[in-house]
Amino acid sequence: MKCAIITGGSRGIGRAICLKLAEENNYHLLINYTSNEASANETLEKVKALGATGEILKFDVSDAEETTNVLTDWQDKNPDAIVEVIINNAGITRDGLFMWMKHEDWNNVINTSLNGFFNVTNFFIQKLLRNKYGRIINMVSVSGAKGTAGQTNYSAAKAGVIGATKALAQEIAKRNITVNAVAPGFIKTDMTADFDEAELKAMIPANRFGEAEEVADLVAFLASKKSSYITGEVININGGIYS
Ligand SMILES: NC(=O)c1ccc[n+]([C@@H]2O[C@H](COP(=O)([O-])OP(=O)(O)OC[C@H]3O[C@@H](n4cnc5c(N)ncnc54)[C@H](OP(=O)(O)O)[C@@H]3O)[C@@H](O)[C@H]2O)c1
Repeated sequence: MKCAIITGGSRGIGRAICLKLAEENNYHLLINYTSNEASANETLEKVKALGATGEILKFDVSDAEETTNVLTDWQDKNPDAIVEVIINNAGITRDGLFMWMKHEDWNNVINTSLNGFFNVTNFFIQKLLRNKYGRIINMVSVSGAKGTAGQTNYSAAKAGVIGATKALAQEIAKRNITVNAVAPGFIKTDMTADFDEAELKAMIPANRFGEAEEVADLVAFLASKKSSYITGEVININGGIYS
């Protein structure tokens, strides 16, 4: 059984990626979430309605022990399954000026994006290397490339993932495993629900926020065999914001 895991697959961009991969139906989907069970169930129902298969794996990607326990348990129950596509999408923001930033807000954001990348990817990497084929896609942000005021924690976390993407890509390219990052600008999801699109679109050449489905199309391409010679890249998807 060939599988793709999508962290934070319950909502937003992660859900759109699940549905796009379900349409292509090359993989059994492992839909991860941490708290929003109803949304995760809804994603799985939509995946099934598209004729694909999948299951839900609940764990907090920032918790190394929980992540390892859940994934070990799943792999033990599915010894022949190979997770060929890893989409590290789970992420959070805890915005605020650096001078007021609490340790907790710094740590939670770093732990989710950067340590989440490590906890999930490192679990599967040896099997993936033996498989001699794979796709790792990390969801970063325009903030990780250019830095955003009020998001020092988030910018640092995403910049860290960009560095990890480039380094790991070089380590494993010979085994036909690509590692790429996708850096969205403003995308319409719960994460940006409080943002004023009417005001912010003035700084976006495309003059609008992006849709989660537009990001999912790019991720689906990177997750496919068609992207075989692209690795270590950060691909911006932001309606023309210069970063
Ligand atoms: N929206 C944007 O404009 C934008 C721009 C640039 C980058 N991004 C990045 O794109 C990714 C997805 O963002 P989004 O806008 O789709 O966010 P979202 O709508 O807030 O959804 C976040 C998803 O991540 C999951 N998640 C959060 N913390 C987790 C954890 N510790 N363990 C496991 N799952 C966790 C959530 O699960 P629950 O449902 O269980 O909470 C949910 O499925 C993030 O990495 C974000 O930084 C978004």
